Parts: sequence; C-alpha cells; structure tokens
Amino acid sequence: MKIACLGGGPAGLYFAISMKLRDPNAEIVVIERNKPDDTFGWGVVLSDETLTNLAANDPVSAAAIRSHFAYWDDIAVHFKGTKTVSTGHGFCGIGRKQLLMLLQERARELGVELRFQTHVESVAAYAEEYDLVVAADGLNSRARSEVATEFEPDIDVRACKFVWLGTHQKFGDAFTFIFEETEHGWVWAHAYQFDNDTATFIVECSAETWEKFGFGEMSQQESIEVCQRIFAKHLDGHALMTNANHIRGSAWLSFPRVLCKRWSYRNIALLGDAAATAHFSIGSGTKLALESAAALAELVHTEKTLETAFARYEDERRTEVLRLQSAARNSLEWFEDVERYFELDPVQFNYSLLTRSQRISHENLRLRDKAWLENAEGWFQEKAGAAQGTRRAPMFAPFRLRDMELKNRVVVSPMAQYKAVDGTPTDWHLVHYGERAKGGAGLLYIEMTCVSPEGRITPGCPGFYAPEHEVAWKRIVDFVHTETEAKICAQIGHSGRKGSTRVGWEGTDKPLKNGNWPVLSVSDLPWSSENQTPRAMTRADMDLVRDQFVAAAEMADRCGFDMLEIHAAHGYLLSSFITPVTNNRTDEYGGSLENRMRYPLEIYHAVREIWPENKPISVRISANDWVGEKGVTPQEAVEVAKMFQQAGVDICDVSAGQTTELARPVYGRMFQTPFSDRIRNETGMATMAVGNIYEPDHVNSILLAGRADLVCLARPHLTDPYWTLRAAASLGDTVEAWPDPYLPGGDQIRRLAERAAEMAAQDRVV
Ligand SMILES: Cc1cc2nc3c(=O)[nH]c(=O)nc-3n(C[C@H](O)[C@H](O)[C@H](O)COP(=O)(O)OP(=O)(O)OC[C@H]3O[C@@H](n4cnc5c(N)ncnc54)[C@H](O)[C@@H]3O)c2cc1C
Ligand SMILES: Cc1cc2nc3c(=O)[nH]c(=O)nc-3n(C[C@H](O)[C@H](O)[C@H](O)COP(=O)(O)O)c2cc1C
Repeated sequence: MKIACLGGGPAGLYFAISMKLRDPNAEIVVIERNKPDDTFGWGVVLSDETLTNLAANDPVSAAAIRSHFAYWDDIAVHFKGTKTVSTGHGFCGIGRKQLLMLLQERARELGVELRFQTHVESVAAYAEEYDLVVAADGLNSRARSEVATEFEPDIDVRACKFVWLGTHQKFGDAFTFIFEETEHGWVWAHAYQFDNDTATFIVECSAETWEKFGFGEMSQQESIEVCQRIFAKHLDGHALMTNANHIRGSAWLSFPRVLCKRWSYRNIALLGDAAATAHFSIGSGTKLALESAAALAELVHTEKTLETAFARYEDERRTEVLRLQSAARNSLEWFEDVERYFELDPVQFNYSLLTRSQRISHENLRLRDKAWLENAEGWFQEKAGAAQGTRRAPMFAPFRLRDMELKNRVVVSPMAQYKAVDGTPTDWHLVHYGERAKGGAGLLYIEMTCVSPEGRITPGCPGFYAPEHEVAWKRIVDFVHTETEAKICAQIGHSGRKGSTRVGWEGTDKPLKNGNWPVLSVSDLPWSSENQTPRAMTRADMDLVRDQFVAAAEMADRCGFDMLEIHAAHGYLLSSFITPVTNNRTDEYGGSLENRMRYPLEIYHAVREIWPENKPISVRISANDWVGEKGVTPQEAVEVAKMFQQAGVDICDVSAGQTTELARPVYGRMFQTPFSDRIRNETGMATMAVGNIYEPDHVNSILLAGRADLVCLARPHLTDPYWTLRAAASLGDTVEAWPDPYLPGGDQIRRLAERAAEMAAQDRVV
C-alpha cells in the first residue's frame, strides 16, 4: 500500500509510525513544508494516562517520550497580588520540538520516508498517486479547504487573541496562570515548564485589549517587549522568546474551533487538527491527534476496505473528540468571559478557573487537594456568615435576604401539582409541601399560584383570590413553620395565553377539551394553532390584573409566607410582555426592552408597595428564548435582570425557555446555570440557578464558583423529598438534622454512607 501523510506534525508522524508497525511493507511518505527542526510552538501537555494508551500502540516511542517528560502536580494562580496553589493535578509536558524529533527518529527507524521542505499544493494530485492520503496538515489544512464541499468544515474563530512564547524563567512544578491588569485591560499567561530550562508562556487577552495595545501592527519583537513589561515581576529578568520567526507579522492568533461533518472522502482521511481542534487551555490537541492516528492505522490495517475503515474511524473517534471539544469549549468560553470574574475574591476566582471545563467536580477537587478545598469551603462559609472555622460543604452555608435567613442553599423549585379544587389547595398540598419542608431544603417554593380564576393555567392550579384559598395555604405555611426550619416562598403568576389548558399529565399547554375560559395576553398571538387566540390587554385590563397581583400578595403575606416570587418566566403573562417573540405591541408596552419591561416592573412596584419591607421578593425570568436574536438572548437577560435589580428585586431566579413553540433548547447537565452565572457576575445581583442540577456535587460547584447564590432542584424533589438530608449523609455532614421522629433512619443512612466512603477509599488504594 502506498500512503502519503500530508503534514509532519504529531498526527502525520504518528500515523506513519502506527501504520508501518502494522504493515511493514507499506510505502509511507510524510510530506512536511518545514525543515525537521523548524517547529512553531514550545511545550505541549500530555498525561501519563495518554502515554499508557500510546504504549499499547508503540512501546518504543512511548518510552522515548516518557523519558523526556517534565512532571508537575500543582496549579498556581496569580491574581490581584495573591498566589494560590492547589496540588494533585498531575500533568506532564514535553517540548513540541523534542516530541517531533522523537517521532521523526522512530518513523525513520521503521522505514518511513520523511520529505521535508516540500509544500503540498494540492491534495488531489496525491490522491491520484497514492492508495491512501492522510491529510494531517494542521488547523489551517489546505486539504480540508480543497475538498470543503465533502468535509463540510465548520470553523468558529474565537474572540481572544494569543501568542505562543517561551522563556527560561522557571515555574517549578506548577502549571501557572498569571492575570495582570494593564492600562488597556487584562492580559493573562498560561505558563508551564517542559524541560529543565524552558517553559511555554502563552500570552492571551481580549481582542479589545489587543487592539488597544496595537499588537497587530507590532513586529514579534515589539510584542515580546510589551509582554515582558506586563509580566516583568513574574519573569525575574528572563526574556520571553519566540520561535515563530518563519511566520511573517505579529504571530498573534485567534483560536479556530474546527469541526467537520465528515472526516473522509474517497481515499483521503482528515486527521488531527485538520479534522477537529481543542482549545489549548485544556491541553488536549496533541493527545487527540496521537490517539486518532493510532485508531486510524488500526482500522486501515484490519478493515477490508478503506471505506469501512473510514466509516468506523469516524464512528469510533467522533464521540471522544466531541467530548473533549465540549470541555475545551467550556474552558475557552471561561477565558473569553474572564473579565466577568475579576470582581470575585481570589479564592472563588481560583475555584472558578479550576472547574471551568466542567470536567473537574467539587469532590474531584477534594481528591486532588483536600486541604485546599477545605480551606475554600471555610472561606465560603465565613463569607456567608457561618461561625469562624466552619468546615461544611457550600450547600450548607446560610443565606440571608432582607430578614429571611435560610439555613442552607438548597431550594425546592416551584412545581405545579394540578391538584387544587377551584383554586383551593387540598390535603395533597399539605402532605406534598409538608414532606418537602421536612426534607432539609432551606427554602421551599409553592407552585405558581394564580392571581385570578382566569389567570390559572389549568383547572387544577391553585389561587390566591378567594377566602378559602387563604385558609388552606395558611394551614400549610403554619405546618412548615411549626414543624420544620424551612422557609417558604409563594410564587404568584398569571397564565396569559398559556391559560385554560389541561393538567400536566393530560397534555401540557393543550386547550381544555371543554370548559375553556377566555384568555388575555400582551398581544393577540396564540400559543399554538390549537390554542385559543388571546385578547391583547387594554390599559383597563392591565389595571385589573395589577390589582389582582397586589391582592394575591396581600393574601400570601397574611398566610405567613416568608418570601414572594413574581413569575415572569416560561411564557406566562408577564414573560410574554418581556419577550419580543410574543410582544408585538406598538404602544409604550412593546418594542424596546424598556417598553417591554414597563408592565412587569409596574407589577413589581405595586406588589413591593404592600409586601412587608423585611421580606424579600424574587422574580423568575426566562433568560433565553432559545430562538437566537429573534428572542431574549442570555445577553439581553442581563439587561432584564439589571432593570429588576435597579427596581429593588432582591434575587433573580434564572430559568429559561418555554416562551415559544419555536424554541430549540440545548439541554445538558446544569444547562441553564451559565445564564445565572452571567447575570450574577455581570450585575452583582444575587441569583438562583435551576435546570438539570441533580447531584450534591453540582450544587457545591455552582455555589463555590460563584455561579449562583441559591440552587433550585425541581424534578429531583418530586422523587425524593429528602434530597438535601440524603446529600448531607453522603457528604458526611452531621449538622443537618433529620426530624426527631426520623432520627434512627438518619443514623442508619449516615452509617451506610460512611461505610460506602470507606470502601471507595479502599478501592482507590487497591
Ligand atoms: C498555542 C497553542 C498551544 C498548544 N498547547 C498544547 C498543549 O499543551 N497540549 C496539546 O496536546 N496540544 C496543544 N496544542 C495543540 C497542538 O499543537 C495541536 O493540536 C497538535 O499539534 C495537532 O497535531 P497535528 O499534527 O494535527 O497538527 P500540527 O502540529 O499543526 O502539524 C501540521 C503540520 O503540517 C504541516 N503543513 C501544513 N500545511 C502544509 C502544507 N501545505 N504542506 C506541507 N506541510 C504542511 C505544518 O508545517 C505542520 O508541521 C496547542 C496549540 C496551540 C496553538
Ligand atoms: C411538574 C413540574 C411542574 C412545574 N411547575 C412550575 C411552576 O409552577 N412554576 C415554575 O416557575 N416552574 C415550574 N416548573 C419548572 C421547575 O421549577 C424547574 O425550573 C424545571 O423543572 C427545571 O428544573 P429541574 O431540572 O430540577 O427539574 C415545573 C416543573 C415540573 C417538572
């Protein structure tokens, strides 16, 4: 078999080696435009685990690489004059040049022809001459562009600018991040040692800062001088160096995230950065290139045809590549948005940095560096007002809003039960909410409770509009206050165009089979073609509904609720004012955001007027309509939250979606938390995160990273009212108390958790 590898980077060389090992008779040539030692870049990060995988493919090159590894265990973060070090991270690195030299040597030894200083002009010519062409020509792959109609690349050029430099300054055994504030904005460095006397020093900043410095117009040497000045106190007089002299211009880059719909066409396969890139901040590009090269060689060797080999290559490698790309995207977005986090305390900033890719969880950090994590937990507790020296998980930190004191940060999110009769809560509600209040969460929400009969979503929704409602709710609130330490929040709302629909299990948002009542909304747009057309509200309607909100809030106060939430999310009445997908008014309540917010703010002010000064009010919003620029975007949600914040709202409950049938949400673990993070850290407003958060680890990491102040769990509380107390048992927390009659059960679950933890620790030692 005649094989051409276009590009002599890690991917091309390692494929050639892996193929030659399997098929010594194959004629393999690697074609590289540069000279053998003419390589851009400094060190690359790999891991012991990657090398173990590679050793199974070729023990010789793996051993050679391992013998040149520099190991380091710590991550050091320099931020606002502090240096924070955590340990247990276990990286290793090698010079890129060294790596390529070792791979070149191994390839030569196996009989691969290495043809340097040869520029590939056209992949088509090689595809004619060779049986197999492996296009491993890097992130700007010419082969990929030439056959773009087949590979369908999707290239997303990211916002930050970076330059890959080196230095002889020592960073010891720490992967080091340095953040420096300059006259033109923040600039940061990712630095790590990769041999005895050289370290990689990648300098990065926002495009805006880069423009202000004028880096684009500078020569490489001029850029370096500016960077040396910025990082002078970390360089101890050592110079920053470039080895990209073969590149004309400044050598600053914008990272292109490359995805390709297909990785093969006829006898050509894309490999390494040509097929998919992973941002350098998670250091996995070389790992992906090497592992994919070995996999492709194995399949080409074992499969009967190239076609089936390529099909399996794409199938088997794509999942792993997408997994790493997703972590890389989280990480690069963190750096793109890093200016948002500069107000954080260094401890929290560091935690946020360490958990940015969402691959490292709270408990995973404990395994890496218990002392550091406990210290961070102590900092969190103290800041929350707990007694000095408290060492408990962040979810068990107290929280205060006005005079309401919560014993912990877990919230039972509002969930419609559809069990009310004519708006009156029943014994179902007493038992349901009673159980959840006993379950340990600091704050318990009742479901959306409607301000009028027409404002109900379904006939099973409860209300705050008749005397019997007040009696029934008061009974529930009294139980919660008498028997538990939980605080209880009333969510009040009006269904708008999503009203007069069936109870959840008979078809969410479907109109009633009979007995429909007329519905109101901001505009006369129905929820769907099946639903009735609402009447667009007149000013008189607005006055009426505002007064209904006020009366409902008064009733909630008389019932003894500790907190009130105005429901302005999920496409119900107030939400439909805010979002342009439902609001097409041309008066002062439609058009600009200021106009769209006018009525929801009017409601808030009217309610705040009568709601006791010492009790907090929250607003729930949909921070993303999931329809792109046509609707509310996470960016616009920051403005929405800011307007509520300026009006005096105490906390923003950050949900998303359900505002239009056209929404295309992107689900996943904690998928709405980034919206809360953004609002909290761009406005300074307290927030609650919600949405597919189901493990104690999620809650703790959201809180300690400063992505929210409270964490709401809905569905997990449907199946387990005792979610919080179980979490306490699993984390070894003995302070959270089970209700007295349940103490024996609590003791048992704690002992079982301790035993499970001991066994897990033993497994780790073995
Ligand atoms: C700043 C930075 C830091 C990084 N840090 C890390 C890290 O710490 N760890 C890590 O694992 N990865 C890191 N990476 C990523 C890593 O360098 C790449 O993912 C990896 O090199 C991919 O290997 P490759 O062989 O596919 O591409 P490349 O290494 O880019 O190799 C492609 C080769 O093809 C050659 N070539 C291109 N076009 C032609 C042509 N027309 N004719 C002939 N030859 C051609 C090029 O000269 C080059 O030698 C980093 C990348 C950057 C930009
Ligand atoms: C059965 C059910 C009923 C819900 N009812 C309400 C409600 O009345 N008010 C509200 O704001 N959200 C309501 N939600 C949304 C939840 O509060 C929460 O935002 C959503 O379920 C995502 O959280 P989770 O992934 O923890 O379930 C409801 C969710 C469920 C599952």
